[in-house]
Amino acid sequence: MHRLFIGIRPSAAVRERLLDAMEALDGAHWVDEDNLHLTLRFVGEVELPAANDLAEALGRIDWPRFELRVAGTGAFDRSRHHQSYPHAVWAGVPLTEPLEGLRQKIERACERAGLGRETRRFTPHITLARTDRATEPVTDWLTAWGDLAAGPWTVEDFILYESHLGHTGAIYVEAVRYALRG
Ligand code: 2AM
Repeated sequence: MHRLFIGIRPSAAVRERLLDAMEALDGAHWVDEDNLHLTLRFVGEVELPAANDLAEALGRIDWPRFELRVAGTGAFDRSRHHQSYPHAVWAGVPLTEPLEGLRQKIERACERAGLGRETRRFTPHITLARTDRATEPVTDWLTAWGDLAAGPWTVEDFILYESHLGHTGAIYVEAVRYALRG
């Protein structure tokens, strides 16, 4: 089985800026720089034939290059036993028409490859750290970096990633890189 997702890699300059914000939050598990990405579509575990169908369908996408930027920060909460605590902090990526257009093309490619439809709302973000109950409260960090801004950068391609889950967290490996129209 292959654990797949489709994403965009921010430019080196944007990653540099993100790294500036990746500090001063005790107990946070910061994402490795190599792993920084924006997820367009999480696919999950698929067998090789479906993975190949997906790779082929993604290869037929024709979409122009576009600009993206980073603006602001946020946190995702997890609820357990009526208690809620953040499980991740992230940098926001404003949802623009070209980004949504590419996401829809990818969604259609996933459907053509026989994958189930994504029903969850798309909240474009770049996860910077995983957090848990042992992490200090994230409110100060969110305030300190609330006006985080980076880019814009030109998105020249999107990537089919394979995620390998290990003891020390996930490693994301680029399987195929798809160029956007120049
Ligand atoms: P996250 O960064 O917000 O955790 C690989 O796991 C990528 O797919 C991550 O960027 C992750 O988003 C995203 N993803 C989206 N839905 C997921 C899910 N149900 N399980 C695991 N990862 C998911």
